[in-house]
Amino acid sequence: MDKAGIPMRRKRRLGASLIGWACCLGAAIAAFGAAPAADTDRDLHRYWDTRCKDCHGDAGPFARRTLQVQDGRLIGTHHEQNLDLFLQHHYLTADLVAPVTRMLAAQVATPPLFAQHCSACHTNAADFARKSLTLRGDVPVGLRSGRPVADFLKTHGGLAPDEIPIVVETLKRVLRETQPARDGS
Ligand code: HEC
Ligand code: HEC
Repeated sequence: MDKAGIPMRRKRRLGASLIGWACCLGAAIAAFGAAPAADTDRDLHRYWDTRCKDCHGDAGPFARRTLQVQDGRLIGTHHEQNLDLFLQHHYLTADLVAPVTRMLAAQVATPPLFAQHCSACHTNAADFARKSLTLRGDVPVGLRSGRPVADFLKTHGGLAPDEIPIVVETLKRVLRETQPARDGS
């Protein structure tokens, strides 16, 4: 066990799959652009929790279980060809189809490190981002300490060094998805 109580065994297993995830994430960014995941003033995670969660559960596990990014497109298990069209008629207002599609694609491409290493103490990434973090320019920082999350994680949370940038990127994305106004986008 390390400081945060994470068994080392699990970390090594996860490490082996990180390279695959990194490739996948690169492809997703190339496909969907680096545009902020939220171009709406709505909190996408809150929207998901109130409008989609009853049927699909949490967004991240749903995305990883059900969706894939292929040739730059998000495709579903049931809706391979026309997911976009399907989503336009599936509980989403028109302006939310693109941001929610980007959020789901990013989740497909992101290993669930936060859930595995942080959720025991910090619930989920969206809640943690809303309550405890903010963006200083492009850098996620702790609200209380004012310290960059990347710094903080060197001695907190029990991540391997190569996992830290992935969690920082995840939290940056989630900050934008939950608090787009603070990002100025
Ligand atoms: C009342 C239940 C219900 C709600 C609410 C709901 N969905 Fe669905 N969703 C389904 C069912 C059932 C399917 C699969 C059947 C189908 O494809 O028509 C589905 C399919 C999907 C798929 C495609 C999965 C695949 O394998 O192709 C996506 C993506 C999706 N939903 C996203 C959302 C989002 C985003 C929201 C909220 C804005 C939402 N859903 C709200 C029931 C729901
Ligand atoms: C064993 C419980 C535990 C785990 C696991 C844990 N944290 Fe924490 N974390 C805390 C506590 C308690 C605090 C508040 C006290 C403090 O600031 O040290 C905190 C503070 C933080 C802060 C500072 C917030 C601020 O206002 O400056 C960040 C950032 C953070 N955690 C991120 C993470 C991330 C990311 C992970 C997973 C890699 C993680 N933590 C895992 C308990 C935990």
